[in-house]
Amino acid sequence: MSAFIEQLPKVELHLHIEGSLEPELVFALARRNGITLDYANEDALRAAYEFDDLQSFLNIYYAGMSVLQTEQDFFDMTHAYLRRAHNENVRHTEIFFDPQAHTERGVPFSAVVTGIHRALEQARYDWGISSRLILSFLRHLPEESAIETLRQAEPFHAWLTGVGLDSSETGNPPDKFRRAYALAREQGYRLVAHAGEEGPPQYIRDAIALLRVERIDHGVAAIQDPALMAELAESRMPLTVCPLSNLKLRVVNSMSDHPMRTLLQAGLCVTVNSDDPAYFGGYMNANYMALQQGLAMTDSELLQLAANGVEASWLSPEEKALLL
Ligand code: HPA
Ligand code: ZN
Repeated sequence: MSAFIEQLPKVELHLHIEGSLEPELVFALARRNGITLDYANEDALRAAYEFDDLQSFLNIYYAGMSVLQTEQDFFDMTHAYLRRAHNENVRHTEIFFDPQAHTERGVPFSAVVTGIHRALEQARYDWGISSRLILSFLRHLPEESAIETLRQAEPFHAWLTGVGLDSSETGNPPDKFRRAYALAREQGYRLVAHAGEEGPPQYIRDAIALLRVERIDHGVAAIQDPALMAELAESRMPLTVCPLSNLKLRVVNSMSDHPMRTLLQAGLCVTVNSDDPAYFGGYMNANYMALQQGLAMTDSELLQLAANGVEASWLSPEEKALLL
């Protein structure tokens, strides 16, 4: 591991907290909650982490998180992620959670959000990690379900900074969530959406024009559309790129084919993130390492990526100045 990467102060802007659930914790929570899993043990579960595409990952991701039942489970999961983030010199993190994946199973919204929030507060106190929480809508579900989720979130608005959009991208375009995003905007939420992971560049354009997002999660499909790339560079619209995720979900064939350097050199505000680190083979440092090894990125390029993360974050100008 490169000492430069280890000591670099990092900001993470694209992390699904349910994707930080390591097999050991999946089994511990299953035991605690009396749940029988389809896998014999941790190694058997980990061996199933071979993905062909986004959907094949999502199937295992939703199965894994089914062990989460109580507020304490959500606290333990979030606390474990934050401990790792702290050990990797992540100073600030903006975290997605998927409430519908839990409320659909009968887990109360309040248990989910309270457990996560309590761990975020403790990490701020113990380790000085700042954070924001982003409620993410599942795009394979109807827009009405997203709107109902916004309603459930109302009592917890003070703990929630933004809304996002994740899950199966192809066939679930941004346009499907126009009304939910307009409502979230009226309620004062900041807006982001996954776009251009497996979906076409048009989904990136639509997330910006129809949903009015201020960041794009993934966005690597922009590489296929030079005019869009120029617009994203001009506006400094941040892309929260996830290199190891792109490799594991076969968005790229190898790390040496990853578009990160091309996007960076074209002036886009590209950032490095881990997405679902328990499933994709590594946390923040491993993602920076993959760029260093696969693309031979220099320390100065890695530093620019880290600075982009600070720029793209929802920290105040004063807080940003402390990190740069
Ligand atoms: N893409 C879409 N949905 C997701 C992802 C992702 O990378 N991770 C968790 N949900
Ligand atoms: Zn994601």
